[in-house]
Amino acid sequence: MKHPRKIIIDTDPGQDDAVAILLALASPDEIEVLALTAVAGNVPLPLTQRNARTIVELSGRDVPVFAGCDAPLKRKLVTAEHVHGKTGLDGIPLPDPVLALQDTHAVDFLIESLRHNAPGSVTLCPLGPLTNIATAFDRAPDIIPRVAEIVLMGGAYFEVGNITPAAEFNIYVDPEAAEIVFKSGVPLVVMPLDVTHKALTSRAWVEEMRGLGTPVGRAVASWTDFFERFDTAKYGSEGAPLHDPCVIAYLIEPGLFSGRHVNVEIETVSDLTLGMTVADWWRVTKRAPNALFIGSVDRDGFYRLLSERLARL
Ligand code: RIB
Ligand code: CA
Repeated sequence: MKHPRKIIIDTDPGQDDAVAILLALASPDEIEVLALTAVAGNVPLPLTQRNARTIVELSGRDVPVFAGCDAPLKRKLVTAEHVHGKTGLDGIPLPDPVLALQDTHAVDFLIESLRHNAPGSVTLCPLGPLTNIATAFDRAPDIIPRVAEIVLMGGAYFEVGNITPAAEFNIYVDPEAAEIVFKSGVPLVVMPLDVTHKALTSRAWVEEMRGLGTPVGRAVASWTDFFERFDTAKYGSEGAPLHDPCVIAYLIEPGLFSGRHVNVEIETVSDLTLGMTVADWWRVTKRAPNALFIGSVDRDGFYRLLSERLARL
């Protein structure tokens, strides 16, 4: 009997973060969500921690939510209300969460949780800027070898940037934090825009969600309607990329994805390319591979999994 994988989701909800969290909470046979740790990103921390609690309540599951860092390690916070709306979770109006925020700071929780659980038993799933993770690694280096794996959404190579011509948002917001994580030696699986831009929603799928007739179905459809408008206008595509759910889908069905184990380093100096994930895809350097950099997804399989799991909530 395979035991579910213990994970901590580090998140900046964000409509796509919300779908990823719901997918994880709908999959208890494969995934045990120990906690959500909120970080500043798409919107400021007071909103990301509130949104995280709202999403947990919508799921009907009981998962603790911790608030973490409210700003990048060394830079001013850059947010993305233009994509996610003023609340960060614009779409269907949802009641204020009743679930209390945990008193412990998310970074302290990450450290305590990794020290308490058996080495190699906890996977970290960052869906936003890497500030919480990097701060925990910096404050308690002893936890680094205890992390089983980091499966994150961030970066871009062939697909280039979405917040600047060179950088993807999660990495761009805190490039110094990303550098700490990418140089940590923890086994990394990276879901860059190269793959998430192939996981586009469709009108049929959004209507299928609405057709579930459940609070989750209605929320996911409304979030996607809201979230899509920015990407379809920008890229001229029919649907929008559901970035963060790729991380959770990989944990459940890794065979949906394919990539290459390469070296990935982070630009932290040049203003022109700040936050770029420099992936040595063609292995032209001798830099040691440090990440499984995912380049493609079985899109239909991905949405089949999403539909099946979200219908459970
Ligand atoms: O660039 C996409 C990423 O930035 C996603 O995680 C989205 O939620 C935002 O955080
Ligand atoms: Ca996110």
